[in-house]
Amino acid sequence: MAEELILSTAADKNERYETLIPQIKSLVDGESDLVANLSNIAAALKQTMNFFWVGFYIVKDNQLVLGPFQGPIACTRINFGKGVCGASWKEKKTILVPNVDEFPGHIACSSASKSEIVLPAFKNSEVALVLDVDSNALNDFDERDQLALEKIMRIVDGLL
Ligand code: SME
Repeated sequence: MAEELILSTAADKNERYETLIPQIKSLVDGESDLVANLSNIAAALKQTMNFFWVGFYIVKDNQLVLGPFQGPIACTRINFGKGVCGASWKEKKTILVPNVDEFPGHIACSSASKSEIVLPAFKNSEVALVLDVDSNALNDFDERDQLALEKIMRIVDGLL
């Protein structure tokens, strides 16, 4: 794995993701431990994109359980179908929420969170974990985030 992250300071988020994604591949290259890899991916995303909260919830015994993350402390368990994370798990797809107050059942781990994107990763076509990214600004995520983060989740699929 690479020891240092080359950070793009580009204003354009696509450029920052483009610098990051190949580095995520090399970060996880040759490491088989899932927690170690998810921890470095969360840290690399936080460093590059400066997200308010970024982390993983892992499917365990029919719940999502908090995994490696960067940011303030968070809820530890989320039930199937509950909140944005549970909805992404149930619907097996990315859910982008421009305003969390308008998402029925949103789980407020922090009152500072205003918008959110959640993306699943799959093992044998079943959701094995989700990536949750929160922003303290409204409307902070768009298709650029969705496309880039989905590329990262396809790397995560390969780790499961
Ligand atoms: N807001 C999420 C819960 C997780 S925290 O934001 C870290 C949800 O509604 O699923």
